[in-house]
Amino acid sequence: MNDREWEYFFAVFDHLPRGGPGSNATTRKAFRRITSLPARPKILDVGCGPGMQTQELARISGGRVTAIDIHQPFLDRLTEEASRMGLSGRIKAVNMDMSKLAFPDRSFDLVWAEGSLYSVGFESALRHVRKVLKKGGFVAASEAVLFKKDVPDEVRAFWEKEYPDITDVQDCFRRAERTGFSPVSHFRVPKRDWFTHFYNPLRTRLAEVRAEYRAVPEALAVFDNLEREIESYNKFSDYSGYEFFLMRKD
Ligand SMILES: C[S@@+](CC[C@H](N)C(=O)[O-])C[C@H]1O[C@@H](n2cnc3c(N)ncnc32)[C@H](O)[C@@H]1O
Repeated sequence: MNDREWEYFFAVFDHLPRGGPGSNATTRKAFRRITSLPARPKILDVGCGPGMQTQELARISGGRVTAIDIHQPFLDRLTEEASRMGLSGRIKAVNMDMSKLAFPDRSFDLVWAEGSLYSVGFESALRHVRKVLKKGGFVAASEAVLFKKDVPDEVRAFWEKEYPDITDVQDCFRRAERTGFSPVSHFRVPKRDWFTHFYNPLRTRLAEVRAEYRAVPEALAVFDNLEREIESYNKFSDYSGYEFFLMRKD
């Protein structure tokens, strides 16, 4: 996307509760599958977006969460919301690229990533976060995957454009093993998680921005694309979606 298209994109996404599918119930489900964390774990949430899962992690873990993203308005929203929820002492929002982590090696017990590793590629992102994880530390990450080998052309064309590196669950774990992680567990992110906090508010926001940008065809094209993505997911959710992966650093 060019700079203007990003501007239209953020006119939508800066107003959503999440940047991708997920829910507090799913965050809790993934967290419960992680064994042997210290009482006050040090957690790094990469690509935190507006930070719904960051806040839930701070509430349920008893630890401290450092949340990083490269889009400052998300970090500002998270800082403000954390303060409103009385979580300021437990959450620190930092503008940092996950491929240029400036933390000491082996400083975190757990790295969390909901729908964000794809930004630099699953395997490459795992290599980056592995350095800052303690030995035996965990990664919990939701990632787009193909659920079936044969997918309709429309689904294949969508992923070819959005994330050509998409693969299946087994291959994600193979990539994780190559990077120095052992599989712990995995589960499918439920379809309702795509709608309740993501696609439903996205639809509402699209209606608002369509009115605001009605004279800007380039903006309307960006909004049309997002609308098509919702329809396509709704129709083809048996073929691709998000899987939550739990892995342990060897
Ligand atoms: C799909 S959104 C998910 C946000 C959030 N985890 C959630 O589930 O609501 C992906 C996020 O990753 C962030 N991001 C993209 N590239 C990044 C990078 N290189 N380093 C850190 N964050 C990045 C984006 O700004 C965006 O907030």
